[in-house]
Amino acid sequence: MHKAVLLDKLSEFLMVEQCGWQLYRVVQSRAQDAELRERYAEFGAETDRHRTILIELITQLGGDPDYISPTARVAQAKSEALLQSVLVCGPLSDKEMEANDLENVLLAETKDHADWHLLSELTEQLPKGKTRTALENAVSQVEPQEDEHLEWAASKLAALGLAALTTEAPPDPLRLERSVITPGVKVKQVHPAPVSLRSLLDAAKVPASEPAPASRTSAM
Ligand SMILES: [Fe+2]
Ligand SMILES: [Fe+2]
Repeated sequence: MHKAVLLDKLSEFLMVEQCGWQLYRVVQSRAQDAELRERYAEFGAETDRHRTILIELITQLGGDPDYISPTARVAQAKSEALLQSVLVCGPLSDKEMEANDLENVLLAETKDHADWHLLSELTEQLPKGKTRTALENAVSQVEPQEDEHLEWAASKLAALGLAALTTEAPPDPLRLERSVITPGVKVKQVHPAPVSLRSLLDAAKVPASEPAPASRTSAM
């Protein structure tokens, strides 16, 4: 194992924790359900602690916690997209918005859980030494909490969904049209939204970014 590869991954995992902490603060501030507010506060504090544990781990392994690896930037973009999803919440009811927030928590915690599971598996494969001890220490503190975060988010989202399906009044049929800014323009309600396979495949061939400066230089 190359230490630089591990440090890049840890930078990504640190970003996931930082963005998770930010997500918990946002969703806690607008949750109406008492259990949601309580759990968001509790798990947000634990996520903050995971952030500190990763900063300490990166430092112990000789890395710089302020360094942001390329995959950490990708993780940040994904998390920002989750937060932005609520900006299209105009036509959603309070309950639907609360469920959307929890769904975002479930998505974030799925990644968070996978990160720590990977570190746990890596730890078992490492030879005895400083790196293994540092990783073991971090994993033993965090992994049980990640199990709890993921299990709770999945079961609570299922409970909210079931309650919505069995007890909520039907939504106002005009609520979608009311959310349109231009008066008189009706939104065509089509489910699912039509997407041609060709356009998806064409988009998949487009390079995600410019070539790196080093490869640009060598091609000249
Ligand atoms: Fe975490
Ligand atoms: Fe978590």
